[in-house]
Amino acid sequence: MPDSPASAPAAPAFVSARGLGMVFRGGIEALRDVTLDVARGDFVALVGPSGCGKSTLLRLVAGLIAPTGGELAVDGLAPRQARRERHDMAFVFQQPALLPWRTVADNVGLPLELDGQGRAARRERIDELLDLVGLREFARTHPHQLSGGMRMRVSLARALVGRPGLLLLDEPFGALDEITRQRLNEELRRLWASQGFTALFVTHNVFEAAFLAQRVVVMSPRPGRIACELAVPFESERTPALRARPEFAAFCGAVSRELQEAHR
Ligand SMILES: Nc1ncnc2c1ncn2[C@@H]1O[C@H](COP(=O)(O)OP(=O)(O)O)[C@@H](O)[C@H]1O
Ligand SMILES: [Mg+2]
Repeated sequence: MPDSPASAPAAPAFVSARGLGMVFRGGIEALRDVTLDVARGDFVALVGPSGCGKSTLLRLVAGLIAPTGGELAVDGLAPRQARRERHDMAFVFQQPALLPWRTVADNVGLPLELDGQGRAARRERIDELLDLVGLREFARTHPHQLSGGMRMRVSLARALVGRPGLLLLDEPFGALDEITRQRLNEELRRLWASQGFTALFVTHNVFEAAFLAQRVVVMSPRPGRIACELAVPFESERTPALRARPEFAAFCGAVSRELQEAHR
């Protein structure tokens, strides 16, 4: 009999946190005993109240700060090393942080330029991304000529232009109106399906988490701990119609209850 998959050693997760703790200088304990595995290609949403350490957890995964306890690896490396050596991580923040004097195309292409890629190779990849986010005809405009939602699309395109393995998103759509947020949720889901990156998405919006993710991780108030994880039961039906389904409302209700529970 060949070895069954069950007897093979489990492959380490792409992002692996073990008993992670973070106490800031001055004594604020932001995270306590956080254990989390994110498989390659997964889409994980982190939800939790403001101040529970969501951004801190993303900054730890990015290697921008070092944990004060526990272990954390990205692709088997220390996060800082993974970010610097593999160039395999990208961020999207709530503020798109585009360079106002650059065109949309030149903003999207900036990571490739910094990477030393030639104009022709850049051009092709930039056009591909602009097509993906529906902004091809805005390539030569400047950020101030765009709406908030369009600027966020540019920010997404710029994050994905270098084909990152891991995309870290910190409340990226928090400043947008509800309709625009929903559109961008649909778009991000499509990008994820076509580009094959792993996503770690922070939000305090339960509906957004349920619409986007394969797994919703609920965090407790400070010090942030993982209260529970819920597998999202809507496989590939992430279309606008999903939001109107009773099962969707029921799942969002379950996540909300877990958030409330964690608050006690
Ligand atoms: N650099 C820092 N120094 C001290 N305290 C910090 C620092 N960064 C975050 N904190 C504190 O850690 C806690 C978690 O912050 P944060 O990760 O930003 O939460 P969230 O993103 O969930 O709103 C907060 O109480 C915040 O004030
Ligand atoms: Mg935050």
